[in-house]
Amino acid sequence: AMIALALVVAYVAGSFPTAYLVGRANGVDLRTVGSGNLGATNVQRTLGWRWGLLVYVVDFLKGWLPTLLLPGALGIAGGWPWGVAIGVAAIAGHVKPVFLMGKGGGKGVATASGVFMALAPTATLGAIAAFIVIVAITRYVSLGSLVGALCLALILLFQARAVTPLVAVGFTIAAFVFWTHRENVKRLMRGEERRIGRASTPNG
Ligand code: G3P
Repeated sequence: AMIALALVVAYVAGSFPTAYLVGRANGVDLRTVGSGNLGATNVQRTLGWRWGLLVYVVDFLKGWLPTLLLPGALGIAGGWPWGVAIGVAAIAGHVKPVFLMGKGGGKGVATASGVFMALAPTATLGAIAAFIVIVAITRYVSLGSLVGALCLALILLFQARAVTPLVAVGFTIAAFVFWTHRENVKRLMRGEERRIGRASTPNG
């Protein structure tokens, strides 16, 4: 019963539509601007670094706090598999937020980075480092997200030196992130992907 409560709380927390609310506070519906994605990247491109960073941090916390705190707070025994289930619920909320009635969501990267920071911090810091390097070089956040997700799974595999359940979770989440980025992958292959940062880049 407690695990069911934890999953609902995590899903609702993940559903908190940070990018949507920040956009509304600035007079835009981000679902109709840029990539249309409700994530830190689209906020950065539309509203700048400060808002983008704020959205990243809040969306990270939506994954990190439930995964870290809910098992203990609700007295859920059984260890990290329940943490995984709670984290997946938070990511699901971020991608399909209950508050937006199925219209709009994020791609799961910021929230997943929080979930994995709670489950496997060293591997996650490695993946974030890979993300930063790719984004710094290319200014494609989507490419950084894809490489980061793959790196996370590979680092987990390297650490465990066997296909453990956590490694399987890592590859499953990586596959999920590739799926949420399927339009980005097409744009990257066509050379039409949006960049962040510099005002001089093609699509802003
Ligand atoms: O995590 C989302 C990012 O990887 C891509 O965002 O707005 O370019 O689709 P966007």
